[in-house]
Amino acid sequence: MLSSDGMFVFFVVNERSMKRIKRATVIGAGTMGLGVAECFALADLDVVIVDETPERSRQASAALLERVRGQVEADLLPERALDAARKVSTADGIATAAASADLVFEAVPERIEVKSAVLAECAAQAPAEAIIATNTSSLPIDDLAEFVQRKDRFLGMHWFNPPEWTPGVELIPSAFTDPRVVDAARAFLLALGKRPATVSSGPGFVANRIQLALFREALACVEAGLATPREVDEVVRSCFGFRLPFYGPFQIADMAGLDVYANIFSVLRDGLGEEWATPHALEEIVAKGNHGSKSLAGFYGYSEDEREQLLIERDKRYAALARLLAEFPSEAR
Ligand SMILES: NC(=O)c1ccc[n+]([C@@H]2O[C@H](COP(=O)([O-])OP(=O)(O)OC[C@H]3O[C@@H](n4cnc5c(N)ncnc54)[C@H](O)[C@@H]3O)[C@@H](O)[C@H]2O)c1
Repeated sequence: MLSSDGMFVFFVVNERSMKRIKRATVIGAGTMGLGVAECFALADLDVVIVDETPERSRQASAALLERVRGQVEADLLPERALDAARKVSTADGIATAAASADLVFEAVPERIEVKSAVLAECAAQAPAEAIIATNTSSLPIDDLAEFVQRKDRFLGMHWFNPPEWTPGVELIPSAFTDPRVVDAARAFLLALGKRPATVSSGPGFVANRIQLALFREALACVEAGLATPREVDEVVRSCFGFRLPFYGPFQIADMAGLDVYANIFSVLRDGLGEEWATPHALEEIVAKGNHGSKSLAGFYGYSEDEREQLLIERDKRYAALARLLAEFPSEAR
């Protein structure tokens, strides 16, 4: 949300009150940490970055400035972004960096021994009411919570590369996370212009589970001799992938027709085996006559007007996307 002085304000949960998030500490300034630090800096937070050694922290700060300079030169950011990047500071260690933080964001390598040591130190040094977030892509959040004093303020905050442009962030509470911390993290990300989704801590969370399922099948198509990697990429990008900036799998299925999906599953099962049998949840919904938007009920419910509006909006979005793709064509084939 925007305050009267035009600055973004974020809140961190305190036992008794809501306190502004003004200071963010990013631990691990590599591929992800640097981009997230950039987002925080551009939102006018006081940002401190800490890497493995003081020297690496200083190099990271210089790299951040260079990265923003490149983006300004490419007309992706306004000139004033450079001032924000110059204000990012470094600290010689976690102790000083975390001591006054409202939010500590951990983005060190995906190794439990590294994360556990870093998180334990962050939790020991950060103020009691600070939110502590990990960018882990895969480690169970409950396991990581074991290393954090006051587990109630700890959660997964899984950004995607490149963090400064990718809107989605998975928020992953552990079994111990205070729901108010999830709300505060969500409000914070929304104010940054991100699109958070709260998910549970299953293997790969949601995004990587689906992304890797897609990749596994893409590889299987190549191995089965159906297409080359280049052809698979074209199919994914230009056929069903064309819809993905606007709609998720449930919305797409509703628009396609759930009965149609159920029929396709039958063919897949006959050709590829039992693991492709129509999922029970889909069978049930189809058996009730809920075939998606055409029957006004599927995974979502629709009035006649909403269905009509959905199709009009869909066409507008796809036409706009087609124009954008014409402006930025994929590699020549
Ligand atoms: N790369 C991606 O696309 C991506 C996407 C989402 C999430 N993640 C997750 O984000 C985290 C970081 O990944 P990355 O790709 O940015 O890694 P990276 O290797 O690019 O960066 C990690 C940084 O942490 C620093 N570091 C190592 N030990 C440290 C310590 N003890 N204290 C402080 N800093 C330390 C390293 O010097 C390095 O700069 C991982 O958990 C990863 O799974 C990565």
